[in-house]
Amino acid sequence: MTDVVSISQVLGGTIAVGTMVTVRGWVRTRRDSKAGLSFVNLNDGSCFDGLQIVVVNTLEGYEQSVLSLSAGCAFEVEGELVTSQGKGQSVELRATRVVPHSTIADPERYPLAKRGDGKHFTPEFLREIAHLRPRTNTFGAVTRLRHAMAMAVHRFFHEEGFYWVNTPIVTTSDAEGAGQMFRVSTLDAMNPARSPDGSVDFSKDFFGKPAHLTVSGQLNVEPFCLALSKVYTFGPTFRAENSNTARHLAEFWMIEPEVAFADLRANADLAERFLKYIFRAILSERMDDLRFFDQECKKGDSPYVQKGVEIISRLEQFVASPFERVDYREAVKILQGAKKKFEFPVSFGVDLQTEHERYLTEQVFNRPVVVMNYPKAIKAFYMRQNDDNETVAAMDVLAPGIGEIIGGSQREERLDVLTARMDALSLPHHEYEWYLDTRRYGSVPHAGFGLGFERLVVYAAGLANIRDAIPYPRVPGSARF
Ligand code: 4AD
Ligand code: MG
Repeated sequence: MTDVVSISQVLGGTIAVGTMVTVRGWVRTRRDSKAGLSFVNLNDGSCFDGLQIVVVNTLEGYEQSVLSLSAGCAFEVEGELVTSQGKGQSVELRATRVVPHSTIADPERYPLAKRGDGKHFTPEFLREIAHLRPRTNTFGAVTRLRHAMAMAVHRFFHEEGFYWVNTPIVTTSDAEGAGQMFRVSTLDAMNPARSPDGSVDFSKDFFGKPAHLTVSGQLNVEPFCLALSKVYTFGPTFRAENSNTARHLAEFWMIEPEVAFADLRANADLAERFLKYIFRAILSERMDDLRFFDQECKKGDSPYVQKGVEIISRLEQFVASPFERVDYREAVKILQGAKKKFEFPVSFGVDLQTEHERYLTEQVFNRPVVVMNYPKAIKAFYMRQNDDNETVAAMDVLAPGIGEIIGGSQREERLDVLTARMDALSLPHHEYEWYLDTRRYGSVPHAGFGLGFERLVVYAAGLANIRDAIPYPRVPGSARF
C-alpha cells in the first residue's frame, strides 16, 4: 500500500513525478475516450482543483468500478504520478488499482448532477440542499477561505500579544441595548410559570431570570482587557433583527478585540493592521480559491458573486493603501454636497445607511474609510463621550462594495459619565453592577471593535449574499439543517 496523499499535496508540486501514491475523494466528472481510457476528475476538497485520474480499460475491475462512476461517487485510487499529456493540468495519476467506495444507484437524481443546460444552480436551490453544497466549487472555496481567514485572525492576535477569551453565548444582559435578542428558556412555552399578576415568572426559569443568546462578547471581554491588557473574542453571536438583507444573518461569528490604554486612533490603527494582515494571508495562501471567485465575478453570469468586481486587485489595493480617516461631521457634509440623490437624506444625527457608506468608500475615497466620532444619540451607552457633548468616540470601518464591516469605539472609562449616560437611556444600574465595577477599580482608557466574520468572507470572495458565507445560514423564517 502506497502513501495516501491529499490532492493539494499532489498539485502543490511536493511529490515527484514517478511516485506511486493513493488518493481518495469524490468524482466530479468522468469521460471515456474511444482509445479505451477513462478520465475521472477527482476532488477531495483539500484545494480548489481536482486531480485527473487516467484509467485504462484493461485495468482489473475497470467495468465494475470505473464505468459506474458518476458525479458524487466516492472513489479511491492508487497510481503513478505522471506528467500530464493533456491541457489544464501539469500532472495526472495513472491508475494501477481502483477502489470504488460508493456508487450512486440513480445518478440522474443526484441533486448536484451536472445540469443539461450548463447553467449554475441557483443560490436558493443550493440553500435548500445545504448538506450537499459543500461539494460545489463555490462552497468548497468559501469553506477554505473561512478557514484561512480564521487561522489568520488567531495568528495576528497571537503575534500582537493578545489573549483569546471565550465569552459566554448565554447572557442575561443586553450588550448593545438594542433588544434584538433570542430568548433562552426552559419554561413550558404553552404553560409557563406565572406571577400573581399573570406575567411570566422568569425566576422559575433555568437561570432564575430572563436569559438570551448574546449579541456581542464585548461587555464580557472588557473585564479581561482591564486585567490582561490585550484580549479578543471570536465566537458566535445572535441577532433577532428581522432584516432580510444580503448583509444580515441571525447567527454570525464576531471577532472583538479590546485593548487597554488605547484610544480611538489606536483602535483605528489596529483595525487597519488587522484587516490587512488577514487579506495578505489569503492572498498568499488561497490564490486558487480567490482566482475562482475573481473569474466568476469577471464572467458576470454567476448568481453567487457581485458582477464586475475584481476581487484580487481589490484585495491587493486594500493591503497596499492606507485607510482614509474622516470625522462623521465631515462625512455628513460630503454626503450633503454629493450630486448623487440618496434614498435617505443625510443630516447631523442620522445613522449612515449602506448607500451613504458605499458612496463614501467607493465614490469619494475609493479605499477603505474609518468614519469617526458619531452622534451619541445613535450609538451604544458604553461609548466614550467627546468634549463636544454631542458625539462619542465611535468608529465604523467602511469597505468598497459592502459598507460597514467593523464597528467599534473607545469605551467610557469614567464612572460618573457612564452612569449618567445609563440614566439618560433608562438602563437599570443593578443589571450592570459587575460592569460598573471595572470602572470603580482600576479603570483606564480602553477601546475595541467588532468585525462580522461573514462580512469579511463576503468581501474577500466578492459574494453577493452573506447567506453563502456561512455553512448553515440562520435567517428569519429559516434554520433548516
Ligand atoms: O456594530 P456592531 O453592532 O458592534 C458591536 O456589537 C460591538 N459590541 C463591537 C465592539 O465594539 N466590540 O457589530 C459589529 C460588526 C458589524 O460591523 C458587522 O460587521 C457585524 O458585526 N454584524 C453582522 N454581521 C452579520 N449579520 C448581522 N446581523 C450583523 N450585525 C452586525
Ligand atoms: Mg455597527
